Amino acid sequence: MDPLPLSHAFTLIEPGPVVLVTTHDGTRPNIMTITWTMVRGFDATFALTTGPWNHSWDGLSETRECVLAIPTADMIDTVVGVGMCSGADTDKFDRFGLTPLPAQHVGAPLIGECLANIECRVEEIVERLDLVLLRGVAAHIDPDRRDTRLLHAVGDGTFTADGERFDRRAAMRAKLPAGL
Ligand SMILES: Cc1cc2nc3c(=O)[nH]c(=O)nc-3n(C[C@H](O)[C@H](O)[C@H](O)COP(=O)(O)O)c2cc1C
Repeated sequence: MDPLPLSHAFTLIEPGPVVLVTTHDGTRPNIMTITWTMVRGFDATFALTTGPWNHSWDGLSETRECVLAIPTADMIDTVVGVGMCSGADTDKFDRFGLTPLPAQHVGAPLIGECLANIECRVEEIVERLDLVLLRGVAAHIDPDRRDTRLLHAVGDGTFTADGERFDRRAAMRAKLPAGL
């Protein structure tokens, strides 16, 4: 094997689909793109890597609420565009033609064009580690989507979309929650 720069190692650990995170700072809603996410357990617990350098931070840390909106592969240019500008000077719902829909439990909006939306409350912020720990309180899915492929960011400006799916549910039954 050849040496790989350690700074490239993270691109080998695929972090799961790119999400759009909506917040509401009390004045208006905002959206940011987040690649670095993780699932913490079967009980709708998640983590985001982000921090105070983003405009969304104020809304996220003050209201302690957000929505994880799940875009599909056909939304790639919106996903990148949302992550390349700031809500400090841009109304991203307006600029990208996205529809804010009222959530049930949080002030941040759902995104109507996304495949699914997860309403979340912030459980804990570990600012030293740029970590935001979330707990989902409600989830919504659009059953009529034609493109259901999720987007995955390698981290070097390239992306992949969901491809072949392997079904090993029978072999993993004992480890899966009932109903999955
Ligand atoms: C593909 C992509 C992935 C991104 N992933 C992250 C991430 O994981 N964490 C983060 O803090 N910022 C991430 N960003 C950057 C933010 O989305 C970006 O700074 C955004 O403009 C912040 O918006 P705001 O200032 O309105 O909050 C990503 C951007 C792109 C384009």
